[in-house]
Parts: sequence; C-alpha cells; structure tokens
Amino acid sequence: MKILVTGGAGFIGSHIVDALLAAGHAVAVIDDLSSGSRDNLPPGVPLHVVDIVDGAAVTRVFAAERPDAVCHQAAQMSVSRSVREPLFDAQVNCIGLINVLDAAAGVGCRRFVFASSGGVLYGDVTVPAPESTPANPVSPYGITKWVGERYLKFYAEEHGMAAVALRYSNVYGPRQNPHGEAGVVAIFCKKLLAGEAATINGDGRYVRDYVYGPDVARANLLALTADVPHVQPRTLTSLNIGTGVGTDVNELEAALRGTIAGLLERAGRGRGLPAPVHGPARPGDLRSNLVDATRAGEVLSWRPTVSLDAGLARTAEWFAARA
Ligand SMILES: NC(=O)c1ccc[n+]([C@@H]2O[C@H](COP(=O)([O-])OP(=O)(O)OC[C@H]3O[C@@H](n4cnc5c(N)ncnc54)[C@H](O)[C@@H]3O)[C@@H](O)[C@H]2O)c1
Repeated sequence: MKILVTGGAGFIGSHIVDALLAAGHAVAVIDDLSSGSRDNLPPGVPLHVVDIVDGAAVTRVFAAERPDAVCHQAAQMSVSRSVREPLFDAQVNCIGLINVLDAAAGVGCRRFVFASSGGVLYGDVTVPAPESTPANPVSPYGITKWVGERYLKFYAEEHGMAAVALRYSNVYGPRQNPHGEAGVVAIFCKKLLAGEAATINGDGRYVRDYVYGPDVARANLLALTADVPHVQPRTLTSLNIGTGVGTDVNELEAALRGTIAGLLERAGRGRGLPAPVHGPARPGDLRSNLVDATRAGEVLSWRPTVSLDAGLARTAEWFAARA
C-alpha cells in the first residue's frame, strides 16, 4: 500500500513512517516542519513541506502521490496555545483536517487514520476510561479533536472510507520534542542528562497513562493496513491507545533519575543527580487520566509491548546519545 503520513516528520509520525517502511509499504510525508524535523525521516522518503491549512497545496500533493490511505498526525498540539489562540488552533486542527480529508476523498483513499486524544476527551478519570465515556473537552485543542472525529465520521459515510480515530494517552519516546510544554519525559531527560534538577509542577500528584511511541506507531500500522471485521468502508471506529497503568509525575521523575544515573555511571560520568524542585501548579492540569485499550485489543489485536521501565531506558539512551 502507499500511505501518506501528515506530520510524518514529527515525533509520533516519524515512528509511524518507520513502522510502515519496515512492513514493506510505500510512504510519503506532508509536514510544514513547524515542530518536526527532516532528520527524523529516513533518507529517500518523499517529504512535501506544506502547511495543511493551504488546501490547494495539499490537493497538489495528493494528486502527485495518489495514496491508498492517509495517516493524519499533523496538528497544533499545544493546549495552552489553543487557549491563547483558538482561531489558529482551529485553522490547523479543523480547516487543515478538512483539507486533508477533501484531498483524500478526491483521490479515492480507502482508509483514513486520525490522531485523536483520550487525555483531552475524557478529562479527570481515576480508572481507565473506555471509549463509551462521554466526551467533555474543555480546551480549544480538545474541542478540535472531538470535532475532528465528527468530521471523520461524516467523510467516511459520504465518501466510503474506512476511518479510525486512535485516542492516544500520553505518548513518550525517542524523538519527542523536549522544548515544548508537553512531553514531560523528554523535558526531564534533557534536564537530568545536563546534571540539573527536574522541575515538577505543583505537588506532582498528577497521574498519567504513559505509552511508548513505537507501540503507538504499531497501532497506526494496524489501523491503516489490517484486514479486520470492524474496520469497514463508511464506518468510523474510535479506539483508545494506552496502557491503563497510572504513574504520577513524582514516580516518573524518580524512575527516570535512577535510569539516567545508571547510564551516566556506566559511561564513567557517574555523579549524584539532584533531587527535583517543585514549581507552581499549572492551572487546569487534570489530576488523573487513564485510558482502557481493551477494544483496540479486540479490534486490531493491539496491545502495548514496552513497559514503562524499558521505554524510559530506551528514551534516556536516545537523548544521552545526542546530549
Ligand atoms: N504526544 C502525545 O502525547 C499525544 C497525545 C494525544 C494525541 N497526540 C496527537 O498526535 C499527533 C502527533 O503528535 P506528536 O506528539 O508527534 O507531535 P509533533 O509536534 O512531534 O508532531 C506534529 C507534526 O505535525 C507537523 N505540523 C504541525 N502543524 C502543521 C501544519 N499546519 N501543516 C503541516 N504539518 C504540521 C509538525 O511539524 C510536526 O512534525 C498530533 O495530532 C497530536 O495532537 C499526541
């Protein structure tokens, strides 16, 4: 199959590109490189540096590439920017999505997979939330993910595509951008590898469901290519992608500090790493968010394979090699 990955030069998108290539598929990428990087892509993958808000440019890429399926990862993904600039957020996440859906329908794409979010749809939940949990997005970013799924359903029914919305929990791993507000694992890796204390917001008792990037990429590969009864033309299937295991930020920092201390010791750079400092709490941060991915197991035979300890070790090694 030929698959077009939007946002393919980003963190999750580039792992999806790797998984698709390893499974023998042809891949092309659209990315405006606003947060992604060419360096995330293997040589030879066609990269169209295009803003998805530019509908004519998106249509030209689809006409040239004529993909069989689309994996839509490109997004404005800062919650706080969405609060400050809801119009910009909606332009990228709604108008951009519609441009990609229109172009996909125009060349007869059979499947469309969309990066949705369990975190912003379900809000504060102390037990893993199934897909049937009523959506209650509070930020403009969350609203665009919810609206995005509705557009996806409309295009699936109108144009005969099989559509899948994957509702990720908190994704982490190699290539995540450590300079944003999200991506706590990447941010802590950067700090600790520089020998500096990690800053924990508030009391750190914020529970999240951390899932490893390449595991999420495998979910996308299956959603794009698996021949399974639930993924059918004219149907939207929404699936949670996470582990259902909760870890708070204090536990996460302690685990990562132990991993990085061991890594530095083995490299002959062993020295004690400073304990974390606590900064102000971030207004609006959810206390707990977990997703139940049972349905992804039933529909796609997907299960997370990398434990948090193993994933943190691989991520720390990746950042250490570039520190
Ligand atoms: N990282 C997470 O924990 C998480 C959780 C839930 C959902 N998601 C969703 O997963 C997707 C990928 O996120 P990520 O963590 O890999 O982030 P990322 O920032 O690394 O990837 C997004 C990519 O999209 C590109 N992009 C942004 N705006 C664009 C535009 N207007 N036109 C073309 N390309 C554009 C960026 O350059 C980047 O390469 C996003 O849709 C995000 O909302 C991520």
